[in-house]
Amino acid sequence: MPGETFARIDVDALGRNLTAIRRHVGGRKILLPVKANAYGHGLVEVARAVEENGWAEWLGVAAVDEGIALREAGITLPVLKLSPAHADDVARAVAAGVTLTVEDAETISAVASAGSAESPANVHLKVDTGMRRIGCEPGEAAGLARLIATDPRLALGGVFTHLAASEDEHEDEFTARQLKLFRGAVAAIEDATGEAIPLVHAANSGGVLRHPDSWFDLVRPGILSYGYIPGAESRRRSLGEWLGLDDEAGGAQPRPTDESSDAPGTPPHDHADSSGVGGDRAELVTAIEPVLTLVSHLSYVKVVPAGQTVSYNRRWRARRDTWIGTIPVGYGDGYRRGLTNEGEVVIRGRRHRVTGTVCMDQLMVDLGPATGAADEQPPYQAGEAVVLIGSDGGERVGADDLGRICETISYEILTGLAARVPRVVVRSAHRPVV
Ligand SMILES: Cc1ncc(COP(=O)(O)O)c(C=O)c1O
Repeated sequence: MPGETFARIDVDALGRNLTAIRRHVGGRKILLPVKANAYGHGLVEVARAVEENGWAEWLGVAAVDEGIALREAGITLPVLKLSPAHADDVARAVAAGVTLTVEDAETISAVASAGSAESPANVHLKVDTGMRRIGCEPGEAAGLARLIATDPRLALGGVFTHLAASEDEHEDEFTARQLKLFRGAVAAIEDATGEAIPLVHAANSGGVLRHPDSWFDLVRPGILSYGYIPGAESRRRSLGEWLGLDDEAGGAQPRPTDESSDAPGTPPHDHADSSGVGGDRAELVTAIEPVLTLVSHLSYVKVVPAGQTVSYNRRWRARRDTWIGTIPVGYGDGYRRGLTNEGEVVIRGRRHRVTGTVCMDQLMVDLGPATGAADEQPPYQAGEAVVLIGSDGGERVGADDLGRICETISYEILTGLAARVPRVVVRSAHRPVV
């Protein structure tokens, strides 16, 4: 056992998720976002498994240092930094073979100065269609693409946009508008340069699940690849309703909107053609399985008499004599303090509630009533395994469940797992029965 607390990373589950996603999007290329330590799963561990098994064609990072760490680990897959690099970082990013995002004349010029005619720097142009974070205006895209295409030190490897609310069915009109703007920009770029863009991409997890017209040449699913459904924390509706299946007979594809069917201009080759492809969304959602399990053990088990309180600031009081277990995990590991009195863990297939304030390095759980009998045995022994995120024996506490309690999303729970938690790669031949 690799120490008292660790994150078990089932790379085969990641592989099964990526295979299911690829089937769903009709075999399109996949960029796996590995930013933020691969959503907390371990940057190099994840990238290595993906490269060795051919599960994705591209990796996506947020920081130049993440790209360089991948190269230093021997990863050779193409890497895209999903946002523009700081001018000071451009040269070393290009030297490491990290493809950079550009969005205006300044970022284009900075990357050009790090490229050469013999070895042009590959760039992807980001178009802002509504996220309002980074990217050029759709109307500027053709001019910027010409700037890139006419500079021998640069190669235009791709054009992309980011969807702001693709997981939200109440925002489908907005998403359709984003995609319409994007298709217009792509068409204008290809008209202006006279060349087909090698990679056009837009789909995050929500796009993969809900918008086939966002799939283009490559998809960029993050949270879905790691086994979670985007927006699940705030979802109170049935899965069928969310999938749009309840009112559509066999409706695996979303209704085409008026906006999405009349894009201005048609690209020279149809990056968005999803005819005859695309799996069933319900099938994909059912196939997706979490990759990470946060595991620890009971370090101490004791009886707390009725009326006594547990942990800092006395936020939990025993109503009866009860067995309390201590677990060496706390907010210093990324187990949020907001889970005080609310979080649950799984021990031997049973859920147990966190009692009292989550400490920096430890937390306590209620293991059940103590009878006071002379020969009473604790319900569990110190040393027994505890699952804090994941499944065990038919019970599941997901990062989405913890996110719901903390009023955040699974992404933040996963990326918040601290560096001191070792990531241990395992391989499961089959999907576990939960
Ligand atoms: C540009 C870009 N593409 C794709 C993703 C993946 O998003 P998701 O995890 O929702 O699939 C992100 C994540 O924030 C992103 O910033």
